Amino acid sequence: MQYTAVLFDLDGTLTRSEEGITRSALWAGEQLGYTGFRQEQLKAFIGPPLYVSFPEIMGIRDSDVDEAVRLYKERYARIGWLENEVYPGIPRLLRSLKKHGVKAFIATAKPQVFAERIAERFGLLPYLDGIVGPTTERVSVSKADFVRRAAGLAGGAAVMVGDRCYDIDAAKEVGLPSIGVSFGYGSREELLASGADSVASDVRELQRLILGDKEPARGLFISMEGMDGCGKTTQRMALVRHLERLGWEVTVTREPGGDGIAEQIRRIILDPANEAIFDETEAYLYAASRAQNVRAVILPALTDGRAVVCDRFVDSSIAYQGGGRGLGTERIRELNAMAVDGCMPDLTVYLEMAADKAIERRRSAGEADRLERQKDSFYERTAAGYEALYANEKRVLRVDASGSIEEVSGRMLEGLDRRLTALAAE
Ligand code: TYD
Repeated sequence: MQYTAVLFDLDGTLTRSEEGITRSALWAGEQLGYTGFRQEQLKAFIGPPLYVSFPEIMGIRDSDVDEAVRLYKERYARIGWLENEVYPGIPRLLRSLKKHGVKAFIATAKPQVFAERIAERFGLLPYLDGIVGPTTERVSVSKADFVRRAAGLAGGAAVMVGDRCYDIDAAKEVGLPSIGVSFGYGSREELLASGADSVASDVRELQRLILGDKEPARGLFISMEGMDGCGKTTQRMALVRHLERLGWEVTVTREPGGDGIAEQIRRIILDPANEAIFDETEAYLYAASRAQNVRAVILPALTDGRAVVCDRFVDSSIAYQGGGRGLGTERIRELNAMAVDGCMPDLTVYLEMAADKAIERRRSAGEADRLERQKDSFYERTAAGYEALYANEKRVLRVDASGSIEEVSGRMLEGLDRRLTALAAE
């Protein structure tokens, strides 16, 4: 079947929203003296209206229901909507739809303002052609109304995708085909019983049901750079966790290194016994490791639509070998051309730190390998190498690496979100 538009339910289909919903329900109940519930028991809040759930699930008295709903909404608006994450593989799916000219909409029973905020905050907005949900308080309109409106905007051959019987029922009422997803809050049985045309158990299967064997969109390549001691490894973990919350399936690699062969090359380079290595030899070894990493790890992951986070890439060679060792940035760039073969990062996160500060940090961190026992002037030339390289480089996100771990990751992730939105819009 060739669809020209997909209407997605939000909670349980694009995002795993239970945390914000169950915590808000738990909190609202507690404020009114209804205690002793575990978050786990409150999953049934996802889907039905709050006015039904509070009495049924938490035994809240009729006279308390209005207040419970008010408290719930208050907490949800403050923090609950942020306690959310995108299902793994959704960005790849949305990018692939865009690549093949298939429109994407959200049709939800959640207030439209929240759906919009979530879509924006979690990086979905640039891939969407519209969001339709209730715009007034205390709506009694059924889900079919939103699905009908979204279908009107979509035109052509639309399919509804959702995780509960309500989504499938709405599609039927409007006369649309539907695909159920069993990774959300409804079971395969529930979805089939309500008449879903098919059921996907993960996002990959969903993608196949919508796009057949059309090629997925290429993934996202992010490299991280900075002087030794800038805190790159710690920030890399924060970056990866953030990408995962946005639904990216992430492959992490590093240079020198990557697969088993590149890791063997890494050992030669970093071995303190190899004092006699020539600068040129070292430059070729970095490039050799990179040639292997690009072909064995990076390209396959990108072809598969994944996000690749590479700790150091060709810019390290340009700054360290070109600048630090004085081999010349252009020569190093040329030397790496065959290794990289045009596979350059979409985005480079540069953790900026002055050479003397980075040296100081490294000294206090203990044992040093061969490279870490370099003279200070080497690091100063390396830092200058980065500066020259990045003076005019649009792909680079510069992040001030001074301050606490949280301050740096806060700055980094904020910048990252802006860049991802810009990249998605391209
Ligand atoms: P590593 O222990 O991974 O350090 P870091 O955590 O700071 O990345 O060692 C990598 C070292 O290799 C680091 O000092 C930078 C250097 N290097 C180069 O000189 N050229 C290169 O092309 C690469 C990738 C790394």
